[in-house]
Amino acid sequence: MENLKFGIIGAGSRGIAAFGEIIKKHPGAELVALCDPNPVRMKEGARILGLELNFYGSITEMIKQEKLDAVVITSPDFYHEENAVEALKSGINVLIDKPLATTVKGCRNIIETAEKTGKVIMIGFNLRHNAVLKRLKSIISAGTVGDVFLLENREFYDGGRTYMSRWNRSYAKCGGLWIHKGSHDFDVFQWLLDFPKPVKVSSFAGINVLNPEHIPFEVAPGTKVGPTCHQCAYGDICPDKYTIADIQNSPWKDEAVAVDGYAKDLCMYTSDKDNHDNGIAMVEYENGIRASHLECFITPINDRLYTIVGTLGQIEASLTKRTIKVFPRWSSEVVTYEIPEEEGGHGGADPKLVDYFIKVLRGELPNGSTAEHGMWSTAVGQAAEIARRESRVVEIKELFEN
Ligand SMILES: NC(=O)c1ccc[n+]([C@@H]2O[C@H](COP(=O)([O-])OP(=O)(O)OC[C@H]3O[C@@H](n4cnc5c(N)ncnc54)[C@H](O)[C@@H]3O)[C@@H](O)[C@H]2O)c1
Repeated sequence: MENLKFGIIGAGSRGIAAFGEIIKKHPGAELVALCDPNPVRMKEGARILGLELNFYGSITEMIKQEKLDAVVITSPDFYHEENAVEALKSGINVLIDKPLATTVKGCRNIIETAEKTGKVIMIGFNLRHNAVLKRLKSIISAGTVGDVFLLENREFYDGGRTYMSRWNRSYAKCGGLWIHKGSHDFDVFQWLLDFPKPVKVSSFAGINVLNPEHIPFEVAPGTKVGPTCHQCAYGDICPDKYTIADIQNSPWKDEAVAVDGYAKDLCMYTSDKDNHDNGIAMVEYENGIRASHLECFITPINDRLYTIVGTLGQIEASLTKRTIKVFPRWSSEVVTYEIPEEEGGHGGADPKLVDYFIKVLRGELPNGSTAEHGMWSTAVGQAAEIARRESRVVEIKELFEN
């Protein structure tokens, strides 16, 4: 069987360090091209991968020149819709990192294009390939805790503070963090529950810490903080200094910044931003199930902590500790599962995601994470953004009205 030829759109962290490395090692795939408006980043990406790749500044040019079986879209969220629509219209299959798009309207445009062209579009919901969550789903599906009626996920993510150092801090670039980050988690809820339709969403979120008032050191008169970590006069004393592994020898060095002004280490305290550093969102589904998702990016802890309550018991799970505990409702016999570590990014989920996509393209597996699934998680995220910005409960049907 011939190797499937891949192009990557967006030669950034996910494009190179995750998908580039995985495709490079996959026996059924070959990475042939990169597409990114920034030539320095493409060159550095190819160097890091140790591959000779063709470079394109636009997807149109890449599709014209290359005979690709599939593209992986890892551009910033705001560009997903236009990138996906163009690839699908050109007859190319798509693996798109989450979120599908930053609005329900954008997702529907992608879905309609995929239906018309008959091409595969699969979402990079890598959490579904995480062994802990797979086991959690199988425990729920086996009916061990009866009918589930309440779920909670508390996500504590130290790395999330760096969202305030780059495009993720801007609502216009990612549709807000309830979509950029939360779309993972809203998808996990829907997947664990076998896809009930979400009906109502509420949320509270904001910036409590990553603002100039909370700079964690004394600022000397006349010496400004920032603008980036590698330029900052306080680099030696700032406990939040963000070093993207030797910035001057990376795709994020000044030579790359000179092309597009995209520095990845803007000061997280002084950068202009309109997304949250913590928040809580709640969802009610058509079958009366309720779920709550907390995300906090100011924390020394990195974990997703799940509580699932059903008519026959309760489950507590930790993604980082890789444990699942099942508490039966009328007995003290707690069952604990310890899930072994797996190799690869996101607890072994990233390589499994790519492998799954390749099997879908070969017709060996059905598409597990469809554009429709991507749309529902974006819908909950979009509703949560409206809810927090307008201080109200949002009905999902509002998003489908025009
Ligand atoms: N599934 C996950 O666990 C996970 C984790 C992190 C990020 N993501 C997603 O991956 C995507 C990329 O995130 P990242 O952290 O790698 O970002 P990044 O900033 O590191 O890289 C983005 C790259 O896209 C390029 N780019 C900008 N505009 C473009 C365009 N119009 N066409 C093509 N390329 C363009 C940039 O120059 C940059 O090189 C985002 O959609 C993000 O939501 C997913």
